[in-house]
Amino acid sequence: MTDEAGFPRFHPDFIWGVSTSAYQIEGAVAEAGRGPSTWDDFCAMPGRVFDNQSGQVACDHYHRYREDLALMKQLGLDAYRFSFSWSRVLPDGVGQVNQEGLDFYDRLIDGLLEAGIAPAPTLFHWDTPSPLEAAGGWLNRDITDHFAAYAGLLAERFGDRVKQWITINEPVVLTLFGYGLGQHAPGRTLFFEALPAAHHQLLAHGKAVQVLRAAGASNIGIANNHAPVWSASEDPADRMAAAGYDALTNWLFADPILLGRYPNDEFAAAMPGPVAEDLAIIASPIDWYGINHYQPANIGAPGGAADPDASDGATLPAGLPFQLRAIEGYPKTDFGWSVVPEGLGEILRIFRKRYRTALPPVYITENGCAINDGRNAAGLVDDQRRVAYLAGYTAALAQAIDDGADVRGYFHWSLLDNFEWAVGYSQRFGLVHVDFDTLSRTPKASFDWYRRLIAASHGLPE
Ligand code: NOJ
Repeated sequence: MTDEAGFPRFHPDFIWGVSTSAYQIEGAVAEAGRGPSTWDDFCAMPGRVFDNQSGQVACDHYHRYREDLALMKQLGLDAYRFSFSWSRVLPDGVGQVNQEGLDFYDRLIDGLLEAGIAPAPTLFHWDTPSPLEAAGGWLNRDITDHFAAYAGLLAERFGDRVKQWITINEPVVLTLFGYGLGQHAPGRTLFFEALPAAHHQLLAHGKAVQVLRAAGASNIGIANNHAPVWSASEDPADRMAAAGYDALTNWLFADPILLGRYPNDEFAAAMPGPVAEDLAIIASPIDWYGINHYQPANIGAPGGAADPDASDGATLPAGLPFQLRAIEGYPKTDFGWSVVPEGLGEILRIFRKRYRTALPPVYITENGCAINDGRNAAGLVDDQRRVAYLAGYTAALAQAIDDGADVRGYFHWSLLDNFEWAVGYSQRFGLVHVDFDTLSRTPKASFDWYRRLIAASHGLPE
């Protein structure tokens, strides 16, 4: 269903947002009392990140947040998903609080509220404070209590103004690419020995939910990366590989939260600590579930031709029991990811079928594409492929909602071109172009399309 202007139709209360994360946009890494994080350390290791780039300056959002707030206001956003930098707030991860760090988020949150935009912060988006990493990071159970204390501090300081909370972003990516395969910070290559990092992130999530709840929060969720997993062929070996990948990347992270159990006994046995008791904490009721969705995964058994593009600039090396295969017949983003709007409907159907009444309302907490168009001679960024992407995915979302999915909001990744982890600034996900030499911002054609979609959805004049 579309309206007269051709925009997909949504309920007037549907929430439209954009997502960012601290390390990817803030910069100012050594300013105002911020402590180092694993991503500062990782970027300082030669050869780890494209062109040895880092988030040292990034979009300089720390200094330019007022300009970014004005852009958000222009978009007409209902909500803004950003992340707190743990090491800006607690430079050692525990103990001494950095007031200047809290002050920055105060200014940001107050600015959002003045603009009529609801803040939806994520507590942790991969940038672990370095001192905690030195103590074992997410492999050390102690971090779950440190995280709970950090959550308590944020709830106390911002709970009067923040009404929607996101605990952790994509624990699967930190587990797999940070601890398993070494392509993200902290750069460990533990392969399946990385699984305790998953358990500890889940446990930290559960503890944070309890702390936030006790502080009066009533709108708490998590943002997990989910994609339908396709088997590269009907061959039983491919099917088995696909099922293994599905369990590892989807259900290992959703089942404990929504069902209070691991998807199989092998995973449960690989986890440290009193797993049954932990699962009771991990399954603490949440108010909604966040899905970050980019593209389906086409998986085959090892041996065939592999597709190098996995996720977030990381790749799946040989030696694993599954391989990513190219998806034929769909357009590709400049990152090589497949544009498959119906994949969004598919993952929502899979969730409804798997969890039924255990599934709370859903938010799409991320969805977006790297399209690297620059400014043309007229100084405009005419990113029609991102417009087409947005039109396709929002239409698929409207269809999924018509089919019965209870989705309450959509956050586009991302507001600004930013630091895309292992591939640095080489992939541009923003609705707003950032010139990384001058840091000037230029809204793209897609910015205007999204602005008009939001206005139409709320029944406002363009
Ligand atoms: C998911 C991550 O949460 C975000 O940090 C990243 O930039 C996007 N995917 C795009 O890869």
